[in-house]
Amino acid sequence: MQRLIIKGGKQLSGELTVQGAKNSALPILAGCVLAGSQVKLRGIPELSDVYAACRILASLGVKTAFVDGTVTADPTGISSIHVPEKLMRQMRSSIVFLGAVLGKTGACRLSFPGGCELGPRPIDMHLRALRQMGVKITEKYGELICECPHGIKGAVINLPFPSVGATENIMLCAALADGETVICNAAREPEIEDLAEFLRCCGARIIGGSSGTVRIKGVKELHGCEYTVMPDRICAATFMAAAAATGGEIVLKGARAQDLGAVTDVFRQAGCLVSDSADRIYLNAKKPLRAVRDIKTLPYPGFPTDAQAPVMAMLCKARGTSVITETIFSSRFRHVDELARMGADIKTEGRTAVVTGVRELYGTGVVAPDLRGGAALVCAALAAQGESTVTNICLIDRGYEKIEKTLALLGADIRRENC
Ligand code: UD1
Repeated sequence: MQRLIIKGGKQLSGELTVQGAKNSALPILAGCVLAGSQVKLRGIPELSDVYAACRILASLGVKTAFVDGTVTADPTGISSIHVPEKLMRQMRSSIVFLGAVLGKTGACRLSFPGGCELGPRPIDMHLRALRQMGVKITEKYGELICECPHGIKGAVINLPFPSVGATENIMLCAALADGETVICNAAREPEIEDLAEFLRCCGARIIGGSSGTVRIKGVKELHGCEYTVMPDRICAATFMAAAAATGGEIVLKGARAQDLGAVTDVFRQAGCLVSDSADRIYLNAKKPLRAVRDIKTLPYPGFPTDAQAPVMAMLCKARGTSVITETIFSSRFRHVDELARMGADIKTEGRTAVVTGVRELYGTGVVAPDLRGGAALVCAALAAQGESTVTNICLIDRGYEKIEKTLALLGADIRRENC
């Protein structure tokens, strides 16, 4: 077990290079199963979830090596259609292997990915879509047994909600299917287009990865490729929040402003100066922060649910009252009680949090409740007076590559130690 010790009050300043996107890397790693020869993926962040995905690949018989941000995956020796329960439980996104394994082999056995600290995460939309594509799914003792007696067939799928995971699973399953699949009301998150682009590099025929209607014409086989995953927009948003909370000034190299419109809007409303060029974002938060009236998490291009907690931490010291509504997950305010321990004034009612800015936050011991909630506590600790200890940081390590090193580069007083 490890913890972070943070002495707050230092303004963050400097440049950092944004890591590759976790939410792209995981479905793309699953997509390696579909390729007919070796895949080389660059820009893969060193995260516990990525190692978990590599272990799943290995359990399927895909040889993988992960060195210096590059994963090499050789899927030619696939020997299993079964993802062991232990591996399914290590990572919420493991469900995305379902579409990939089915697409490649026509069969798959895995367990439900399990509950989640954000509230229930059902997969009914995934399963309904796969059934429409000819997959027979039986559930036995918590395990899903999936077969395709007549092969996987293209279908027109109307998603009731633009689910990111369901869109990815359908795309992966459809790439080698017989005929065309059309996903209506598909998720439009930039990671969807990144997955589409990776699959295209492998020879898939996909159009509309960012349009809300994705068309996939099944092909007979896919080949390997070399691909670099997109930069992580949620890490970019988190480091912007950390810099803004401390009144700092940073440059995020590699960040793509076009993916972060709803986020940069909020920082501007809070009084930050934000500008961008082709491959970087500059943020200056030297002026006192102002509250932001109305932030609502929504599917892309709306404000991302993953940025909600770090931005809330930033607003704890903003002048006035901010109102944040979480519409994607039912239980995504678990960082609120921990922020309150640091002196934040936050009231929640259902899915709405009302944040009244306080003059100071105070360092104390806090526990990361989930990945982004944990990152929010780090942001608050950086802005707080005195020393904070953040524990349960294995959750933060699921999404941020050596977070203490990145923040120390910006001048933060932060260290990791065993506890
Ligand atoms: C979601 C986020 C994604 C984020 C990720 C990790 C959205 C739209 N999705 O993706 O941006 O990176 O969490 O935090 O912001 N749902 C069902 N049935 C299903 C699938 C989903 O009811 O079969 C519901 C979920 O309970 C949730 C909502 O749809 O309320 C969003 O789900 P989805 O986009 O699928 O979640 P993730 O893929 O995990």
